[in-house]
Amino acid sequence: MLDFTRDDLDQLFDVADEMRKYSKGQIPLLKDKVMASLFFQPSTRTRLSIEAEMVRLGGQVIGFADPSVSKASVGETYHDIVKSVDGYSNVLAIRHGIDGHAQFAAEIAEAPVINAGDGWNEHPTQAMTDLYTISRELGRLDDLHVVILMDLFRNRVTSSLIYGFAKYADVKVSLISPSPLRKEVEDDVKAAGLDIRYARSLKDVIRDVDVIYVGRIIKERFNDPVEYESVRGSYIVNLEAIEGCKDSMIILDPLPRVDELPAEVDSSNHAKYFEEAAYGIPVRMALLALMFGAR
Ligand code: NCD
Repeated sequence: MLDFTRDDLDQLFDVADEMRKYSKGQIPLLKDKVMASLFFQPSTRTRLSIEAEMVRLGGQVIGFADPSVSKASVGETYHDIVKSVDGYSNVLAIRHGIDGHAQFAAEIAEAPVINAGDGWNEHPTQAMTDLYTISRELGRLDDLHVVILMDLFRNRVTSSLIYGFAKYADVKVSLISPSPLRKEVEDDVKAAGLDIRYARSLKDVIRDVDVIYVGRIIKERFNDPVEYESVRGSYIVNLEAIEGCKDSMIILDPLPRVDELPAEVDSSNHAKYFEEAAYGIPVRMALLALMFGAR
C-alpha cells in the first residue's frame, strides 16, 4: 500500500465507478493481454474475482489455484517458476505464504505483479476494496472512526488497511486484538499522523463508530493448537455487541468468517460484507485497466 498515494487511490476509485457498469458484463480494454494467476495458497474471493475481472476486461487467464499441480510440487524454485511464467503473460497476480514474495516476483519479472496476499505481510487489493466500500457506502474516507477487531499480528489484511487509512484526514482507528499490530506499521502510521489506539471492548466505543472492520482469527497461522485455543473467540460482532451504534454504521469483514461474525448479523442494515466482496470486482478491474494505461 505504500506504493500508492491518496491521489492514486482517488483515481483508482473514479475508474472503479466507471467499471461498476461492467461488473456483470464486459469492456474489452485488455483484449490482447494474458494474466498469470499463481496461487500458492488457498483463496476463494481474491482468486475468483481477479480472474473474473481479467475476463470482464476482455483478457485471458492462465495459472493455478493449487501449487501441487505445478512443478513447485517437485521442488522447482519460486524464482524459476516466476521467471518462466513471466514469458507467458503480461501481468502476474500472486498469492504466496511467505512475506515479501510478491515484491520478490516483481524484481524477477518484467511484467507487473499484483500482490494477492503475501504471508502475514500485506493484502493491498483487499484494502483497496475495503476503502472503496467505505467511501461509496458512507460517502467519505476522511473524518471516520473505525474499529478493527482482528488478530492484528497474523492478519495480512490489517497492515494494508491501516496504511490505507493513514492517507486520509481525521481518521481515528481503535484496535481490539489478542496480538499487537506490527511495530513498523504502528510507527509508520503514527508518523503519518493517524490517530490509532487500542480499545478494551467494542462496548466502550460502539456509540461513536462509523465502521466496524472484523476478521477471523486465522487458525492455520498457529503452530500450536493450545495457543489458538487461548485466543479463539477473543471478540465477536453479534447483534448484542452493536446495540447503541449509529444508524449509518457499517460492518465489513474480508471473509472467510468463522465465529467472529454470526449469521444473525447478515439481515441487519449495518451488514455490508457481501457488498464489500462485490466491490472487489470494479476496484481490481480499475487497477488492471490503469496498470496497462487503458484508463
Ligand atoms: C484473507 C486472506 O487470505 O488474507 N482473505 C481474503 O483474501 N479476503 C483473510 C483470511 O484468510 O482470513
